[in-house]
Amino acid sequence: MCGIIGCTGVKNASAVLYKGLLDLEYRGYDSAGMAVLCDGGIVTVKKKGRVCALSAAAEELRGTSGIGHTRWATHGIPSDENAHPHTAGKFSVVHNGIIENYAELKEELVSQGCSFSSHTDSEVVVHLLNRCYSGDFKDAVLHTVRRLRGSFALCILCADSDGFAAVKYRNPIIVGKGGGALFAASDMPALSGLAESVAVLKDGQIAFASHGEMDLCDFSGEAQALTFSPVPAAVRAAGLCGFPHYMIKEINEIPAAVKNTVHAFLEERCFERVTRAAKKRGFGNIFLCGCGTAYHAALAAAYSAEELLGIPARAETAGEFRGRKSAVGRSTLFVAVSQSGETADTVEAARTAKQRGAYVLAVTNVPYSALTSVADCVVPVRAGTEVCVAATKSYCGQVAALSLVVSALKGRAECRRTLSELQEVCSKCASAISGFSAEAAARACASSSGVYFIGRGIDYPVALEGSLKLKEVSYVPGEGYPSGELKHGTLALIDGGTLAVAVMTDIRSGEKTASAVEQIYSRGGRVAVICSPGCAPRGIAERAEFYAELPECGGMLSPIISVIPLQLIAYRTAVMLGRDPDKPRNLAKSVTVE
Ligand code: G6P
Repeated sequence: MCGIIGCTGVKNASAVLYKGLLDLEYRGYDSAGMAVLCDGGIVTVKKKGRVCALSAAAEELRGTSGIGHTRWATHGIPSDENAHPHTAGKFSVVHNGIIENYAELKEELVSQGCSFSSHTDSEVVVHLLNRCYSGDFKDAVLHTVRRLRGSFALCILCADSDGFAAVKYRNPIIVGKGGGALFAASDMPALSGLAESVAVLKDGQIAFASHGEMDLCDFSGEAQALTFSPVPAAVRAAGLCGFPHYMIKEINEIPAAVKNTVHAFLEERCFERVTRAAKKRGFGNIFLCGCGTAYHAALAAAYSAEELLGIPARAETAGEFRGRKSAVGRSTLFVAVSQSGETADTVEAARTAKQRGAYVLAVTNVPYSALTSVADCVVPVRAGTEVCVAATKSYCGQVAALSLVVSALKGRAECRRTLSELQEVCSKCASAISGFSAEAAARACASSSGVYFIGRGIDYPVALEGSLKLKEVSYVPGEGYPSGELKHGTLALIDGGTLAVAVMTDIRSGEKTASAVEQIYSRGGRVAVICSPGCAPRGIAERAEFYAELPECGGMLSPIISVIPLQLIAYRTAVMLGRDPDKPRNLAKSVTVE
């Protein structure tokens, strides 16, 4: 949800910003822009479309300091005018977040004679800076940020200063230094080729970068200490490595993601930390929250937790959780699941749960994220940097980490069993990836008016995830559904043009899903079956348009394997239909606004 970057003291600011924006493009890609300090003035270029649309104009810019932005629209359509930076008078600003009081500020600024050139909430910041400016850059920034409500990470240029300011409030900013230059960006991978050392800013901090020095203060202007540490090796993104898209590269990285997550669980003594908390608090119920794919991993874990531990466990989307009064208190284990650790709904849900007394455990792929700073305990997912907007390997890492948490709560013997099963799961994942050809299923999906993914029990969250994956990367409509519910309404949509994908990894529920499949056949619908050996009753597979047998899997780890064919089907369908699976329309990987 918008990527921002700033630099000063570099040879060619526009080249540095351009490279950084390409790394940040996963955060939004409907428009991009940059502003560079040039002969005591600010020169801005911005364009609707992807970062590459800037390349020619960026080459013309000469300067050693600048700021850049890649946008995911919230206020105002994607257009040249609404693209950042917003430049007026002495200032230029890029913003990630939402200025919630922008309407009242705009009214005030307009009444004072300011004229606006965009429909964004962000433009108020640049006009406020000019209003507050009387020759002191720091003073103008301090006065401006104190007027803002909402969430904002900002990079600001002032024509009278040689550097930039970076502001953090509820959206991420990492600052860095290296080779005499100073940087700021929304995430660490964007700085990994530029900075030698980095520091993660906290809410309410402002960094002023100028003449090779970076000074930190809070919103009252009081100086604060800034400690840099080396860029962690794990954040260095490796590129496509010969794969045509990040989505398929990252699916191929699932076995490593699961293996590394298991190592991290052991290395970081998660069993001990989880059981210590359980002993102290005596958890009476479990709440799990996440958004999108992370929610589907949370839902699978809720099913397993309730079955294994015999205490109430429920999963909810993070946005829903915050909006209502739920039974969360001191004996609640609240598990927040997020690949990025910066999804605003999930971070805010974790804050709310903590305020209500719950013990907050974060399952995340990003160790320095906002979520980790809220949590009482972090159980890492070590999937490595995930670039494709659609989550794949991080989902499998999340299911592995959550299964370990659930089994740790049961006890040491159960946790040992899960750890050893996960070793086998890694090699089964590898054979599920290499042994599955998605062509026929993808052809069936591409030619369908709607694709309905069905499953029961632990297969239901997987059906939801399969459906989400297909929708987001191929734009083929459809739904994930509990197989028993189909007959209560959705069956009305089934005809020869639709396809139903039945997921069956559980022998107990396989027969029930098979009844739903029979109901679909009886109404002329087409069916694809993805199942573990022996889980599809006789007569089901033979009539399926497409049938694939998974490596032996069942129980709480089965989603790690059963999701793989669904991810591959979504990927092949997207490619077949000429979509860009890595950057689907209208979406962004990190959604840092509520
Ligand atoms: C966005 C992405 C999804 C992702 C969701 C949650 O909507 O497009 O792929 O599942 O955010 O992200 P998180 O980083 O919290 O797991």
